[in-house]
Amino acid sequence: MTRGSARWEALLWVGVALLALLHLFVREDFQIRRGAVFTDMVDGAAYDAFAPNPNFPDSKTLRTPPEGSIARGYAPLLIDGALLDVTTPLKVLPESEKLRWDRLLPPWSGAESSPEEVAARQARGGVVFDAVCANCHGSSGAGGAIVTKRRVPPPPSLLEPHARDLSDGVIFRIITVGGFENMPSHASQVEREDRWKVIQYLRSLQTP
Ligand code: HEC
Repeated sequence: MTRGSARWEALLWVGVALLALLHLFVREDFQIRRGAVFTDMVDGAAYDAFAPNPNFPDSKTLRTPPEGSIARGYAPLLIDGALLDVTTPLKVLPESEKLRWDRLLPPWSGAESSPEEVAARQARGGVVFDAVCANCHGSSGAGGAIVTKRRVPPPPSLLEPHARDLSDGVIFRIITVGGFENMPSHASQVEREDRWKVIQYLRSLQTP
């Protein structure tokens, strides 16, 4: 072996050793961060919701939504472009406002529906009724369900003329914001389209 090639070989080994050493610093788990130079993009200055915030004149981090903001999934209920009253209890709701609720219709009311679509809505309404309403109203709607035997005030039969005469829109309001007395809002349990479907199902219970 010449002296020159021995030097090259030594260099080669040094190179291999350096690579092995470098390997120690190479990330194996890319989730774990090693040293970083500019971390501004990683660690944003996030404020806690209720922490004082110097970026706003009122120092509040949680901003008041601008007037007219609509929460996701809570599209406003409108008739003639004006909001329906969802706060006044049904018992004292003025007749004129009740008449506006009467005009509220399901989203599919404008278009012709096939018998299959109608049947599918009714089937879904039945599922919702049995899961949500039947505990109090009974699966036939006539009342006498299990909770009424546990000191919960029994609801009236939904098959009686009073309930039959309520418009779909008013029943929608009952499900959305609560009934005349003890029935609480079921808006969080039953989404909007399902409310219309459950009303359709209720109508089927009311027509023998
Ligand atoms: C926690 C028990 C409970 C549940 C669950 C419940 N209701 Fe009621 N509901 C009542 C009570 C009590 C009344 C009578 C008092 C009132 O109107 O607030 C009532 C009244 C009603 C009325 C008015 C009846 C009338 O003749 O005045 C309708 C319509 C109605 N409920 C529909 C429903 C529908 C549809 C569901 C399911 C989405 C449902 N309820 C779920 C307890 C309940």
